[in-house]
Amino acid sequence: ARKIIIDTDPGQDDAVAILLALSSPEELDVLGVTCVAGNVPLDLTTKNARIICELAGKPDTLVFAGCDRPLGRDLVTAEHVHGKTGLDGPDLPDPEMPLQDQHAVDFIIDTLRAEPSGTVTLCPLGPLTNIATAFQKAPDIVQRAQQIVLMGGAYFEVGNITPTAEFNIYVDPQAAEITFKSGVDIVVLPLDVTHKALVTAPRNDAFRALSTPVGIAVAQMTDFFERFDKEKYGSAGAPLHDPCVTAYLLRPDLFTGRRVNVEIETTSELTMGMTVADWWGVTDRPKNALFIGDLDADGFFDMLTERLARL
Ligand code: BDR
Ligand code: CA
Repeated sequence: ARKIIIDTDPGQDDAVAILLALSSPEELDVLGVTCVAGNVPLDLTTKNARIICELAGKPDTLVFAGCDRPLGRDLVTAEHVHGKTGLDGPDLPDPEMPLQDQHAVDFIIDTLRAEPSGTVTLCPLGPLTNIATAFQKAPDIVQRAQQIVLMGGAYFEVGNITPTAEFNIYVDPQAAEITFKSGVDIVVLPLDVTHKALVTAPRNDAFRALSTPVGIAVAQMTDFFERFDKEKYGSAGAPLHDPCVTAYLLRPDLFTGRRVNVEIETTSELTMGMTVADWWGVTDRPKNALFIGDLDADGFFDMLTERLARL
Protein backbone atom coordinates (compact mmCIF):
# COMPACT_ATOMS: atom_id res chain seq x y z
CA ALA A 1 0.00 0.00 0.00
CA ARG A 2 1.11 3.54 -0.70
CA LYS A 3 2.21 5.34 2.47
CA ILE A 4 0.49 8.67 3.08
CA ILE A 5 0.27 11.38 5.71
CA ILE A 6 -3.05 13.25 5.68
CA ASP A 7 -2.62 16.87 6.75
CA THR A 8 -6.05 18.28 7.49
CA ASP A 9 -8.44 20.79 9.09
CA PRO A 10 -11.74 18.87 9.35
CA GLY A 11 -14.16 20.11 7.95
CA GLN A 12 -16.95 17.88 6.57
CA ASP A 13 -15.17 17.39 3.25
CA ASP A 14 -11.89 16.63 5.02
CA ALA A 15 -13.84 14.06 7.02
CA VAL A 16 -15.06 12.31 3.88
CA ALA A 17 -11.52 12.37 2.48
CA ILE A 18 -10.22 10.69 5.64
CA LEU A 19 -13.02 8.12 5.59
CA LEU A 20 -12.23 7.28 1.97
CA ALA A 21 -8.55 6.76 2.82
CA LEU A 22 -9.30 4.64 5.88
CA SER A 23 -11.71 2.51 3.85
CA SER A 24 -8.95 1.54 1.43
CA PRO A 25 -6.13 -0.10 3.43
CA GLU A 26 -5.06 -2.26 0.50
CA GLU A 27 -4.08 0.79 -1.49
CA LEU A 28 -3.43 3.43 1.17
CA ASP A 29 -1.45 3.08 4.38
CA VAL A 30 -2.33 6.12 6.51
CA LEU A 31 0.81 6.61 8.60
CA GLY A 32 -0.72 9.51 10.46
CA VAL A 33 -3.25 12.30 10.39
CA THR A 34 -1.68 15.68 11.11
CA CYS A 35 -4.01 18.52 12.01
CA VAL A 36 -3.69 22.20 11.27
CA ALA A 37 -5.74 25.30 12.04
CA GLY A 38 -7.96 26.23 9.10
CA ASN A 39 -11.69 25.71 8.76
CA VAL A 40 -11.85 25.98 12.55
CA PRO A 41 -9.15 26.49 15.20
CA LEU A 42 -6.67 23.70 15.98
CA ASP A 43 -8.41 22.37 19.11
CA LEU A 44 -11.47 21.61 16.98
CA THR A 45 -9.64 20.18 13.97
CA THR A 46 -7.74 17.76 16.27
CA LYS A 47 -11.01 16.78 17.92
CA ASN A 48 -12.84 16.35 14.61
CA ALA A 49 -10.07 14.22 13.10
CA ARG A 50 -10.38 11.81 16.02
CA ILE A 51 -14.19 11.79 15.83
CA ILE A 52 -13.84 10.68 12.21
CA CYS A 53 -11.22 7.99 12.89
CA GLU A 54 -13.53 6.55 15.55
CA LEU A 55 -16.50 6.74 13.20
CA ALA A 56 -14.42 4.75 10.71
CA GLY A 57 -13.74 2.14 13.39
CA LYS A 58 -10.01 2.98 13.27
CA PRO A 59 -9.22 4.39 16.73
CA ASP A 60 -5.60 3.24 16.40
CA THR A 61 -4.91 5.86 13.74
CA LEU A 62 -2.20 8.27 14.88
CA VAL A 63 -3.54 11.82 15.10
CA PHE A 64 -1.24 14.78 15.76
CA ALA A 65 -1.77 18.45 16.54
CA GLY A 66 0.23 20.83 14.40
CA CYS A 67 0.44 24.56 13.83
CA ASP A 68 -2.28 26.70 15.37
CA ARG A 69 -1.78 29.69 13.10
CA PRO A 70 -0.45 30.58 9.65
CA LEU A 71 3.22 31.51 9.22
CA GLY A 72 2.83 35.24 8.83
CA ARG A 73 -0.81 36.15 9.14
CA ASP A 74 -3.74 35.91 11.51
CA LEU A 75 -5.85 32.81 11.20
CA VAL A 76 -8.95 33.10 9.01
CA THR A 77 -11.55 30.38 9.68
CA ALA A 78 -14.64 29.21 7.77
CA GLU A 79 -17.44 28.58 10.27
CA HIS A 80 -19.75 30.21 7.75
CA VAL A 81 -19.25 27.09 5.63
CA HIS A 82 -18.62 24.30 8.13
CA GLY A 83 -20.57 25.44 11.19
CA LYS A 84 -19.35 26.27 14.69
CA THR A 85 -17.81 22.84 15.34
CA GLY A 86 -16.33 22.51 11.85
CA LEU A 87 -18.25 19.25 11.55
CA ASP A 88 -21.84 20.40 11.90
CA GLY A 89 -24.54 18.06 10.62
CA PRO A 90 -24.29 14.69 12.33
CA ASP A 91 -24.38 14.23 16.07
CA LEU A 92 -21.22 12.24 16.72
CA PRO A 93 -19.76 11.38 20.15
CA ASP A 94 -16.69 13.12 21.55
CA PRO A 95 -13.56 11.11 20.79
CA GLU A 96 -11.99 8.77 23.31
CA MET A 97 -8.88 7.94 21.29
CA PRO A 98 -5.79 9.91 22.26
CA LEU A 99 -4.11 12.77 20.50
CA GLN A 100 -0.41 11.91 20.09
CA ASP A 101 2.07 13.90 22.20
CA GLN A 102 4.42 14.60 19.32
CA HIS A 103 3.93 17.80 17.31
CA ALA A 104 2.57 17.16 13.80
CA VAL A 105 5.56 18.91 12.22
CA ASP A 106 8.00 16.63 14.04
CA PHE A 107 5.98 13.58 13.06
CA ILE A 108 6.18 14.63 9.40
CA ILE A 109 9.93 15.18 9.69
CA ASP A 110 10.65 11.93 11.57
CA THR A 111 8.48 9.88 9.23
CA LEU A 112 10.08 11.21 6.07
CA ARG A 113 13.50 10.51 7.57
CA ALA A 114 12.60 7.04 8.84
CA GLU A 115 10.85 5.68 5.75
CA PRO A 116 12.83 4.88 2.61
CA SER A 117 13.29 8.00 0.50
CA GLY A 118 10.57 8.51 -2.10
CA THR A 119 7.96 6.31 -0.41
CA VAL A 120 5.80 8.75 1.58
CA THR A 121 3.19 10.99 -0.04
CA LEU A 122 1.91 14.10 1.73
CA CYS A 123 -1.79 14.81 1.34
CA PRO A 124 -2.63 18.34 2.50
CA LEU A 125 -6.35 19.11 2.77
CA GLY A 126 -6.04 22.46 4.55
CA PRO A 127 -3.68 25.42 4.80
CA LEU A 128 -0.09 24.34 4.14
CA THR A 129 1.36 25.58 7.44
CA ASN A 130 2.47 22.19 8.81
CA ILE A 131 4.06 21.15 5.52
CA ALA A 132 5.98 24.40 5.04
CA THR A 133 7.10 24.45 8.66
CA ALA A 134 8.45 20.92 8.33
CA PHE A 135 10.27 21.83 5.10
CA GLN A 136 11.81 24.88 6.74
CA LYS A 137 12.82 23.08 9.90
CA ALA A 138 14.27 20.05 8.11
CA PRO A 139 15.20 20.87 4.50
CA ASP A 140 16.67 17.36 4.11
CA ILE A 141 13.17 15.84 4.07
CA VAL A 142 12.03 17.76 1.00
CA GLN A 143 13.74 15.47 -1.48
CA ARG A 144 12.58 12.40 0.45
CA ALA A 145 8.86 13.07 -0.20
CA GLN A 146 7.42 10.94 -2.97
CA GLN A 147 4.76 13.46 -3.97
CA ILE A 148 2.40 16.08 -2.58
CA VAL A 149 -1.22 15.63 -3.60
CA LEU A 150 -3.15 18.61 -2.26
CA MET A 151 -6.52 20.32 -2.38
CA GLY A 152 -6.12 24.02 -2.93
CA GLY A 153 -6.16 26.84 -5.41
CA ALA A 154 -8.25 27.63 -8.43
CA TYR A 155 -7.74 28.77 -11.98
CA PHE A 156 -10.84 29.22 -14.13
CA GLU A 157 -13.07 28.89 -11.07
CA VAL A 158 -11.15 31.68 -9.31
CA GLY A 159 -11.87 32.25 -5.60
CA ASN A 160 -14.19 31.06 -2.86
CA ILE A 161 -12.87 33.20 0.01
CA THR A 162 -11.83 36.27 -1.99
CA PRO A 163 -12.56 36.95 -5.66
CA THR A 164 -9.21 35.46 -6.62
CA ALA A 165 -8.21 33.05 -3.84
CA GLU A 166 -9.22 29.61 -2.69
CA PHE A 167 -9.50 29.17 1.10
CA ASN A 168 -6.59 26.78 1.84
CA ILE A 169 -4.07 28.87 -0.08
CA TYR A 170 -5.48 32.19 1.13
CA VAL A 171 -5.20 31.27 4.80
CA ASP A 172 -1.44 30.72 4.54
CA PRO A 173 -0.05 32.00 1.24
CA GLN A 174 3.49 32.06 2.58
CA ALA A 175 3.29 28.36 3.43
CA ALA A 176 1.82 27.66 0.02
CA GLU A 177 4.67 29.50 -1.65
CA ILE A 178 7.27 27.46 0.25
CA THR A 179 5.45 24.27 -0.71
CA PHE A 180 5.09 25.12 -4.40
CA LYS A 181 8.71 26.22 -4.65
CA SER A 182 9.99 23.14 -2.78
CA GLY A 183 10.73 21.11 -5.88
CA VAL A 184 8.56 18.19 -4.74
CA ASP A 185 6.32 16.72 -7.43
CA ILE A 186 2.91 18.30 -6.75
CA VAL A 187 -0.59 17.33 -7.85
CA VAL A 188 -3.16 20.09 -7.27
CA LEU A 189 -6.88 19.42 -6.95
CA PRO A 190 -8.23 22.99 -7.30
CA LEU A 191 -11.79 24.32 -7.20
CA ASP A 192 -11.92 23.77 -10.95
CA VAL A 193 -12.27 20.06 -10.34
CA THR A 194 -13.82 20.00 -6.85
CA HIS A 195 -16.75 22.11 -8.04
CA LYS A 196 -17.54 19.22 -10.39
CA ALA A 197 -17.63 16.70 -7.52
CA LEU A 198 -21.09 17.73 -6.32
CA VAL A 199 -23.24 15.74 -3.92
CA THR A 200 -26.53 15.94 -5.80
CA ALA A 201 -29.69 14.64 -4.12
CA PRO A 202 -29.43 11.12 -5.61
CA ARG A 203 -25.79 10.89 -4.55
CA ASN A 204 -26.71 11.98 -1.05
CA ASP A 205 -29.49 9.37 -1.02
CA ALA A 206 -26.94 6.73 -1.99
CA PHE A 207 -24.82 7.55 1.08
CA ARG A 208 -27.87 7.43 3.34
CA ALA A 209 -29.04 4.19 1.78
CA LEU A 210 -25.89 2.49 3.04
CA SER A 211 -27.77 2.58 6.37
CA THR A 212 -24.47 2.36 8.27
CA PRO A 213 -23.26 4.90 10.84
CA VAL A 214 -20.69 6.09 8.26
CA GLY A 215 -23.17 6.35 5.40
CA ILE A 216 -25.69 8.24 7.51
CA ALA A 217 -23.07 10.60 8.97
CA VAL A 218 -21.68 11.37 5.50
CA ALA A 219 -25.20 12.12 4.25
CA GLN A 220 -25.79 14.43 7.22
CA MET A 221 -22.42 16.14 6.81
CA THR A 222 -22.92 16.80 3.12
CA ASP A 223 -26.50 17.97 3.79
CA PHE A 224 -25.14 20.60 6.15
CA PHE A 225 -22.15 21.45 4.00
CA GLU A 226 -24.19 22.04 0.85
CA ARG A 227 -26.31 24.78 2.46
CA PHE A 228 -23.51 27.26 1.86
CA ASP A 229 -22.77 26.57 -1.81
CA LYS A 230 -26.45 26.14 -2.62
CA GLU A 231 -27.47 29.47 -1.15
CA LYS A 232 -24.43 31.34 -2.29
CA TYR A 233 -23.73 29.94 -5.74
CA GLY A 234 -26.92 28.05 -6.61
CA SER A 235 -24.77 24.91 -6.64
CA ALA A 236 -26.49 21.58 -7.32
CA GLY A 237 -24.96 20.08 -4.18
CA ALA A 238 -22.05 20.10 -1.77
CA PRO A 239 -18.66 20.17 -3.51
CA LEU A 240 -16.52 17.35 -2.12
CA HIS A 241 -13.25 19.27 -2.31
CA ASP A 242 -10.89 17.25 -0.15
CA PRO A 243 -12.09 13.74 -1.11
CA CYS A 244 -10.75 14.51 -4.59
CA VAL A 245 -7.27 14.09 -3.08
CA THR A 246 -7.84 10.59 -1.76
CA ALA A 247 -9.86 9.65 -4.83
CA TYR A 248 -6.97 10.79 -7.02
CA LEU A 249 -4.61 8.51 -5.10
CA LEU A 250 -6.96 5.56 -5.54
CA ARG A 251 -8.11 6.18 -9.12
CA PRO A 252 -5.96 8.74 -10.97
CA ASP A 253 -7.65 7.54 -14.16
CA LEU A 254 -10.81 9.39 -13.06
CA PHE A 255 -8.99 12.75 -13.35
CA THR A 256 -7.40 14.83 -16.08
CA GLY A 257 -5.15 17.85 -15.85
CA ARG A 258 -2.19 19.68 -17.21
CA ARG A 259 1.36 20.07 -15.96
CA VAL A 260 1.93 23.79 -15.47
CA ASN A 261 3.84 26.35 -13.47
CA VAL A 262 1.97 27.52 -10.39
CA GLU A 263 3.10 30.54 -8.36
CA ILE A 264 1.43 31.96 -5.27
CA GLU A 265 0.61 35.63 -4.74
CA THR A 266 1.91 36.59 -1.30
CA THR A 267 2.05 40.39 -1.31
CA SER A 268 -0.95 42.01 -3.01
CA GLU A 269 -3.86 42.44 -0.59
CA LEU A 270 -6.19 42.45 -3.59
CA THR A 271 -5.15 39.05 -4.93
CA MET A 272 -3.49 37.52 -1.85
CA GLY A 273 -3.28 33.73 -2.09
CA MET A 274 -4.10 33.58 -5.78
CA THR A 275 -2.71 30.50 -7.52
CA VAL A 276 -1.24 31.91 -10.70
CA ALA A 277 -1.25 28.91 -13.02
CA ASP A 278 0.50 29.27 -16.36
CA TRP A 279 -2.15 27.23 -18.15
CA TRP A 280 -1.16 28.33 -21.65
CA GLY A 281 2.59 28.09 -21.08
CA VAL A 282 3.25 31.76 -21.70
CA THR A 283 6.30 31.80 -19.41
CA ASP A 284 9.31 29.52 -19.24
CA ARG A 285 8.94 29.07 -15.50
CA PRO A 286 9.34 25.45 -14.35
CA LYS A 287 6.28 23.23 -14.54
CA ASN A 288 6.06 22.47 -10.84
CA ALA A 289 2.56 21.02 -10.59
CA LEU A 290 -0.01 18.84 -12.26
CA PHE A 291 -3.10 21.04 -12.16
CA ILE A 292 -6.22 18.87 -12.32
CA GLY A 293 -9.17 20.35 -14.19
CA ASP A 294 -11.73 17.62 -14.66
CA LEU A 295 -13.01 14.34 -13.28
CA ASP A 296 -15.45 11.56 -14.04
CA ALA A 297 -17.94 12.58 -11.35
CA ASP A 298 -20.13 9.48 -11.61
CA GLY A 299 -17.07 7.24 -11.39
CA PHE A 300 -15.89 9.22 -8.38
CA PHE A 301 -19.20 8.91 -6.50
CA ASP A 302 -19.60 5.24 -7.37
CA MET A 303 -16.18 4.50 -5.93
CA LEU A 304 -16.73 6.70 -2.87
CA THR A 305 -20.07 5.10 -2.02
CA GLU A 306 -18.71 1.60 -2.58
CA ARG A 307 -15.69 2.30 -0.36
CA LEU A 308 -17.70 3.96 2.42
CA ALA A 309 -19.84 0.82 2.52
CA ARG A 310 -16.76 -1.11 3.64
CA LEU A 311 -16.42 0.84 6.89
C1 BDR B 1 -11.16 23.98 1.03
O1 BDR B 1 -11.42 24.87 2.11
C2 BDR B 1 -12.05 24.19 3.15
O2 BDR B 1 -13.16 24.92 3.56
C3 BDR B 1 -12.40 22.81 2.66
O3 BDR B 1 -12.25 21.87 3.70
C4 BDR B 1 -11.42 22.59 1.55
O4 BDR B 1 -10.22 22.03 2.03
C5 BDR B 1 -12.00 24.38 -0.16
O5 BDR B 1 -11.68 25.67 -0.56
CA1 CA C 1 -10.01 21.12 4.25
